[in-house]
Amino acid sequence: MNDQDITTLQRQWAFSRTSNAPIYLQLYQRFREAIATGRLAPGQRVPSVRSLASALNVARGTVEMAYQLLASEGYFVARGAAGTVVAAGLANVPEPGQAAIARRPQVASSGPQEGVQPFQLGVPALDAFPRKAWARVAGHTLRTVETAAMPYPHPAGYEPLRRAIASYLGISRGIACTHEQVFVTAGYRGALDLVCRTLLQPGDTGWYEDPGYILARQYLDHAGMRLVPVPVDDEGLHVATGVRRAADARFAVVTPTHQSPMGVALSLPRRLALLDWARSRGSWIIEDDYDSEFRYHGRPLPALKSLDADGRVLYTGTFSKVLFPGLRLAYLVVPPSQVEKFDAAADLVPGAGSIMPQAMVTAFMEQGHFSRHLRKMRALYAARRGYLVNALSQALGDRLHVQAQAGGIHVLAHLRAGEDDRRLARAAKAAGLAVNALGDWRFAESPRGGLLMGFANFATASEAAVAVQRLEAVVRGVR
Ligand SMILES: Cc1ncc(COP(=O)(O)O)c(C=O)c1O
Repeated sequence: MNDQDITTLQRQWAFSRTSNAPIYLQLYQRFREAIATGRLAPGQRVPSVRSLASALNVARGTVEMAYQLLASEGYFVARGAAGTVVAAGLANVPEPGQAAIARRPQVASSGPQEGVQPFQLGVPALDAFPRKAWARVAGHTLRTVETAAMPYPHPAGYEPLRRAIASYLGISRGIACTHEQVFVTAGYRGALDLVCRTLLQPGDTGWYEDPGYILARQYLDHAGMRLVPVPVDDEGLHVATGVRRAADARFAVVTPTHQSPMGVALSLPRRLALLDWARSRGSWIIEDDYDSEFRYHGRPLPALKSLDADGRVLYTGTFSKVLFPGLRLAYLVVPPSQVEKFDAAADLVPGAGSIMPQAMVTAFMEQGHFSRHLRKMRALYAARRGYLVNALSQALGDRLHVQAQAGGIHVLAHLRAGEDDRRLARAAKAAGLAVNALGDWRFAESPRGGLLMGFANFATASEAAVAVQRLEAVVRGVR
């Protein structure tokens, strides 16, 4: 490296002071770039730590750290008194950050999301999250976590949280279970993953609601499951059709409390028929109880799991809707007969990760914040749902028919026969509106299109009205 190189480095350097990366990493990066572009050749000597530090006006330790990193990765070779040189044989080092990331087109995705777009599905009211209480609980948890909780946790998750979930489910969902049956997972897909690894094999057949939750369907497809679509009507999953199409299926995935996305509840006769099928065939029912906490009229129905006398139901719930999705915490309740198998399988996978967020949620539940927040959110969502439904019927009543749902945090608006919901959703998305097409959630094509819209983050009636005006412009512009 000659004086000119050092001057160049200095010039670039002044430039990059604004970067968030530590200085030693920026320096490391610069050397890698210089090697990749051939500005530094194999065998070439680099400046001494002392001279570079003084040329760049940084601490010697900073340059030392960069050099050590480069040496540990094989870019530099230290030759003692002979100085440090660029290693030989580095002709084809790719420039960092050069490769383009290939992206596949996505029908739907749970993230990553920057902020919340209007109509975003599945995201609770983030503006109403009790951040102060959460921060207090989190700070206290960080300060006081017991030493006993610091070694490797149980593979099924942080035990106090498992106990808190078991008692919450007993009271609010009618599920009698002990904490040994509860497995804390990284989101709903973490729960599905554990079920697949423990009880299923690639190639197994499973019933899947049509239409049904697109992200779990994608996950199960990816895991090699053969999904058999089973239609949903006003009473939920059409169990008799499931039996007709695949009586010997190994599993069925259902959203009995609030069908995703149609919003209907699975009727009692169908619940009993489904349990009866699973018992007689030795099959598994995966109950996805994702947003049962929110119901605006009528009493919440007990979980299907509460009727599970034969131990065929694998129950899943999530903290994504009551707290926030970024927590990535969900849970799975397995029948007592399967606990040992699940324990063994959980021991082989990463599970829910760190105990710290789990300990925070436990304290949040134990101190009553969870149920207080839930009560508030029920009232808030009833109002916010009203904002969206009113705005839609005023602006687009002639084009959309909003189906009243008893619960949840989204609405479904049906289109007139023959209208293409996918085209509308694509146009809406291009306009920055996170509307989903019902067609994307279906297996079978249907002339009845619909739009799925989240309402939880419309803080006022006028916010909902403004978003709906933008949607109206899209809908009226698409021919
Ligand atoms: C139908 C359904 N099931 C489950 C979930 C929960 O997923 P997770 O726990 O991964 O956030 C959601 C979230 O949107 C959902 O819509």
